[in-house]
Amino acid sequence: MSLPAAIQPDGATHVRYRGRRLIYFGGCDYYRLARHPRLLQAHARAAASDGLGTGASRMTTGNHPAHDALEASLVQFFGSETATVVGDGYLANLALGQAAEGRFDAAFIDEKAHMSLRDAAQFLGCPVVCYRHCDADDLAKRLSRRRTAKRVVLMTDGVFGATGRIAPLDGLAKRLPRLATLWIDDAHGAGVLGERLRGTAEHCGLAGRRVIRSIVFSKALGSFGGAILGPRWLRAALLDGNPVVTGSSSLPSGLAKATLASLELLRTRPGLAKRLRRNIAFVKGKLLADGLPVGDTAFPVFSLDCSGKQASAMRRRLLATGIYPSCIRYPTGSEGAFYRFAISSEHTRGQLEGLVAALSGR
Ligand SMILES: Cc1ncc(COP(=O)(O)O)c(C=O)c1O
Repeated sequence: MSLPAAIQPDGATHVRYRGRRLIYFGGCDYYRLARHPRLLQAHARAAASDGLGTGASRMTTGNHPAHDALEASLVQFFGSETATVVGDGYLANLALGQAAEGRFDAAFIDEKAHMSLRDAAQFLGCPVVCYRHCDADDLAKRLSRRRTAKRVVLMTDGVFGATGRIAPLDGLAKRLPRLATLWIDDAHGAGVLGERLRGTAEHCGLAGRRVIRSIVFSKALGSFGGAILGPRWLRAALLDGNPVVTGSSSLPSGLAKATLASLELLRTRPGLAKRLRRNIAFVKGKLLADGLPVGDTAFPVFSLDCSGKQASAMRRRLLATGIYPSCIRYPTGSEGAFYRFAISSEHTRGQLEGLVAALSGR
């Protein structure tokens, strides 16, 4: 397995690929904030004053005022009791697993959970049971075989980033014991789903349940980094010798400031989410009407399975329409190859029409 050919961003909605300028429906920068002047300016100013990195972990000399400011802003934006910033989303899950060691008697994890969530489960020190993808009945069956487990945690992605499928959190939660914890990796849902963009738990109406979340800054927030959102015991455990927090350099202040700027933009510019939702409705509405299985969800991602000849025909059609052929092939090969598309708030109607035409084969 080798790396795919490199691509170079070129404006908000294009990339350069093999000498051509193509429309880009890949990645996870759903509002294209990664190139927003507010974020770039915040990052550049902080880098000019603080340098590129902090050069130390937060537990030694790497705790910067921007980390505290960002945590306060995350608590407000996502409505959690506490927020703890770490270097990226993968680390957020690992840190969370380490911090929760010994807290649960059994963990139930979606079979297609992100690899960082699966790695994190190994730290919990309890049996880890896989249930079928997004299948609440299968979860119930597996729970019934572990009735003696009193302290239960459910682990799932809020949104599965490869397919855009939203985990049925309400249905899953109904099968769990009342005091069970839901650990949601909301890398994709945070900043996109829910009335206040708080993510999948808000979208699914999980109020009143015990929820802990890991989020990333590298997707809807257009920056880089990760955070753990949860109750006070979790924050206390993260600050009490947690290996990830103690043993990794803290998030560069430029990225913390850029993330602060993106939260502010999402809070004050409702037009961004409105445009994204309008674009999703336009593309998915047309494709569903044409019989394509893209899922009728309010999430900007969908995927189409392609094999052999179909995949080459799709590639030709996309390139002929001037669209980057976003074929995904994971190294394990377990998922096979598929085309993944991510709609952004910044795509024009013409670009979206081009995508629909290419996919519908019209
Ligand atoms: C569901 C999910 N969790 C965690 C991560 C890891 O985030 P990061 O790229 O910030 O390490 C990703 C990123 O690809 C993801 O899709």
